[in-house]
Amino acid sequence: MDAVRTAELRLARRSPSKAYVGPAGNERFLETMSALLFADARLSARAAGVQTVAGTGALRLLAELLAATGPDRTVLLGTPAYVNHPAILAAAGLRTELHRVTPDGSAMLAAVDAARPGDVLLLQGCCHNPTGLSMPPALWDRLAAALARRGVVPFVDQAYFGLGDGLDEDLEGMRRLLRDVPDAVVAVSGSKAWGLYSERTGCAFVLGDDAGRREQARTLLENIARASYSQPPAHGAAIVEEILTDPALTVRWRAELESMRQRLGGLRDGLAALTGFAGLGDQRGMFLTLPLDPAAMRSLRSDHGVYGLPSGRINLAGIPSSRLTGVAAAIRAVA
Ligand SMILES: Cc1ncc(COP(=O)(O)O)c(C=O)c1O
Repeated sequence: MDAVRTAELRLARRSPSKAYVGPAGNERFLETMSALLFADARLSARAAGVQTVAGTGALRLLAELLAATGPDRTVLLGTPAYVNHPAILAAAGLRTELHRVTPDGSAMLAAVDAARPGDVLLLQGCCHNPTGLSMPPALWDRLAAALARRGVVPFVDQAYFGLGDGLDEDLEGMRRLLRDVPDAVVAVSGSKAWGLYSERTGCAFVLGDDAGRREQARTLLENIARASYSQPPAHGAAIVEEILTDPALTVRWRAELESMRQRLGGLRDGLAALTGFAGLGDQRGMFLTLPLDPAAMRSLRSDHGVYGLPSGRINLAGIPSSRLTGVAAAIRAVA
């Protein structure tokens, strides 16, 4: 991204110190991320955050926090799940209970209704990996009511914001939910929205009304970080801070993110039209799950050089526009 390159060049010229950033990381980065994600000073005032080693680090730190503060909790997890979610929860010693991910969210709502107070629902904020589902606002509202009624804590994983229906549209469901529940935790990845995969950029937020409990949670997160990797890496967070504290650079980044989103949308709609699989057009985000079985996916790879997972998931971002027709023909040939 040009905004990222510009920020990096500025940082290189300023040559920032290589001093430790501390277990909580870059405070300005956290403030700007909180403002971007929550877009509401009242929500930001209820949030305490730490910088993490990307989205994965945020997920792991928060899972450890939830395990430390409620060893008997069960985490409700939708399947198919992001491949690393079960491993992260298991590594933190948390028990999981699975339900199906469906467009109407019925199994998720039933799981919440059957849960015990203090249990946790791990869910993706938008562009669910791998199903491509983004929940509509009305479903977020129903979910918030169910969570609040049952005392179940939402654990929101935000990895693909900006790549579904638009930056604010992708974050809106989470914002609505956070306004309506007493406690929540949010894991954020900077990998996709800024293309900072190798810089391991992310953050973890704990939201709640009680300032004392919030600060306790933040201290616990810092202690877990300290005992794991001591301090997060500085560079990626400094890039995001540079972008989000400069209004002109923020505008440029938003425009670049939007054009990435539109490119993905164009590829998705193109594949839907060319393959005749109309449902593909309803998916959102970087990945697309094709309605193909593992044998067809194997054939797609070995006979046509199109790589995807046995589950049918392919990475849209990896398809050059010039190859769209060829990829669609390959999908039709193996279907
Ligand atoms: C749903 C989801 N959450 C979190 C992550 C973690 O991303 P990272 O650790 O690269 O920031 C990913 C990466 O693929 C993901 O798909």
